[in-house]
Amino acid sequence: MTISQATDQSIEQAADILRDGGLVAFPTETVYGLGANALDGQAVAKIFEAKNRPSFNPLIVHVADARQADIYVEMNDKARAVAGTFWPGPISLILPKKKDGGVSDLVSAGLETLAVRVPSHPVAQKLLKACNVPIAAPSANASGEPSATTPMHVTESLGENAPFILAGGASEVGLESTVLDLTGNVPKIVRPGAVTAEDLEPLIGEVEVDTGNPDKPTSPGQLLKHYAPSLPVRLHAIDVAQEEALLGFGPLKFMGVQGGGFAKDLPAGQVMNLSEKGDLHEAAANLFAMLRALDNPKFSAIAVMDIPKTGLGLAINDRLERAARGK
Ligand code: TXA
Ligand code: MG
Repeated sequence: MTISQATDQSIEQAADILRDGGLVAFPTETVYGLGANALDGQAVAKIFEAKNRPSFNPLIVHVADARQADIYVEMNDKARAVAGTFWPGPISLILPKKKDGGVSDLVSAGLETLAVRVPSHPVAQKLLKACNVPIAAPSANASGEPSATTPMHVTESLGENAPFILAGGASEVGLESTVLDLTGNVPKIVRPGAVTAEDLEPLIGEVEVDTGNPDKPTSPGQLLKHYAPSLPVRLHAIDVAQEEALLGFGPLKFMGVQGGGFAKDLPAGQVMNLSEKGDLHEAAANLFAMLRALDNPKFSAIAVMDIPKTGLGLAINDRLERAARGK
C-alpha cells in the first residue's frame, strides 16, 4: 500500500492509476473518497468490492466543474443556480442521468438518476483535471463505518483495499456532502450536510428535508445503518456510566458519572469533546475522528451529549442517529 503526500508528481501518478482502471483514495473538503474512473465498469466494481458495499447503493460522480457535469446529467435551472453558488463545494446534486454520457450503470446502481459533485479541495481539483475522466467516489471507509477524514483512517478502515492514498491533510468539513435531489417538483435534501435548506431556499425556493423513512426511502443510502463504530452509541446522554466513553459537546462542567463524580475527571481517552465552545463546524470536523478514537473495546458504549438540531447540527444529528441505529 502506498500513502503519498499530494504533489504534482504523485497526483500525476494517481491520475495514471485511475485511467488504467485502478483505485485511488484522495482528499476532499468533506471526507476522503475512494475513487475510480466512472466510465469504466470494471474499475467501479472494484470500489464496491473494496468497501464491501451493497451494489444497490449508488455512487457520487465527481467532476471538475459544472460544464463537465453537463456531459453526464441534465442540468436544470435549479441545478445551475445551486452549482453557480455552491460549486466547487460540499453539495451533490441528483439529476436525470444522460444516456449517452458513458457513466457505468454500476455507478448509479441501475437508477435513471445520477449524483454529481464538484469538490473544492485543491488536491481533488488537480486530480480531476489531471485524469480528465469523471471520478466515482464514495467515502473511503468500509461500508457502514464512520467516514474517513484523514489518510490514517483510510488505511485503518480499508487496509490493502485502498492500495494508493493521496494524502492532503484532515478534511475541513468532516461530514459528507449535502445530497440534494432535483428530479422532483420540490427540491429535496436526502442527506443533510454543510449546505443547509436555509442556504438553498433563497436561491431555489422551498426545499424539503427528507432524511429517511426506512419504509419508503428516497435515497438507497437511507436504508442502511451507517457511520457506526463497533461499540453501541447511546444518544441524549445526561450522564455517563463508569465503563462508558463520553463524546461531549459544549462545557462538561456539570456532566456527572453514574454512581458519583464528574465526567471531566474521568481518565483522558475516555472523554472527548466535539467542541468545548459549542461550535457546530468544529464539532462536524471532529465527529468521525472522535467516534473512531473512542471506539475501544475497553468501553461498553459511547454516550453522546445532545447537539442542537439547527444548521449544521441537523447533519451531525443525522449521522449520530444512524450510528446509533440497530443493524
Ligand atoms: O462528501 C461526499 O459526498 C463524499 C466525498 C468522497 O465526495 N462521498 C460520499 O459518497 O459520501 P457515499 O457513496 O458514501 O454516499 C453517497 C450517498 C449515498 O447515501 C447514496 O445512496 C446517495 O448518495 N446517492 C448517490 N446517488 C444517488 C441517486 N442517484 N439517487 C439517490 N441517492 C443517491
Ligand atoms: Mg459513505
